[in-house]
Amino acid sequence: MRKLIAGNWKMNGLISSQAEIQALKGLTGSATCDIVVCPPFTLIDRAVERAKDSKLVIGAQDCHAQRSGAHTGEISAEMLADIGARYVILGHSERRVSYGEDDEIVLAKAVAAHRAGLIAIVCVGETRHERDEGRAIEVVGEQLRESVPEGATSANLVIAYEPVWAIGTGLVPTNEQIEEVHAAIRQMLEERLGRDGNSVRILYGGSVKASNAAVIFGLRNVDGALVGGASLKASEFAGIISAAV
Ligand code: PGA
Repeated sequence: MRKLIAGNWKMNGLISSQAEIQALKGLTGSATCDIVVCPPFTLIDRAVERAKDSKLVIGAQDCHAQRSGAHTGEISAEMLADIGARYVILGHSERRVSYGEDDEIVLAKAVAAHRAGLIAIVCVGETRHERDEGRAIEVVGEQLRESVPEGATSANLVIAYEPVWAIGTGLVPTNEQIEEVHAAIRQMLEERLGRDGNSVRILYGGSVKASNAAVIFGLRNVDGALVGGASLKASEFAGIISAAV
């Protein structure tokens, strides 16, 4: 399966960061994987413009479940599609933990993303405590069951397995732990979507960098990465992209 490398800029990036988009655009010509960058809302429009005529695809980091209305400060999936975003990250653990997003909210947002024609990158992952209790697969399974909408297909859904304790910490699960969770996710996707579940891309996320990407990409059922910190500098991101053959 062709790998997908998605960069999540989180709350980073000013107009001057367009230089990074420009540099990434240059990389997509020869890349053997799909590359998505999800800058903050304020830069999406400019990034889409900048990425024009290249294979670099722009996404967002969140959306609201409703199409429009009295939701001060929110951005709808339709608004994102309107300015040319093609992907949206949903249920990132920072949103689950800091903004109280539960599976029901993530599901509603995924429905909205599909309604607007966006590809949803649904994030799942256990906390350190849940892993220590031996509940990683159970937790991920429940998040998956509860937040993947009806009508999901390999064309509109990507799953990102991001252990909460690996995000921004430099800690990475063992290869066996990654393969175990990804295999469980694959099985659940097949049960849910039939044969098409086999074609849904399952990304690993959490402290992916140029130095560990090749090993992670070599693991079974790892179809790419969701990258935070290391996506902010095109030079570092380039190292991850070139590991995805
Ligand atoms: P990190 O973040 O690569 O900085 O660990 C990953 C993410 O939050 O998606």
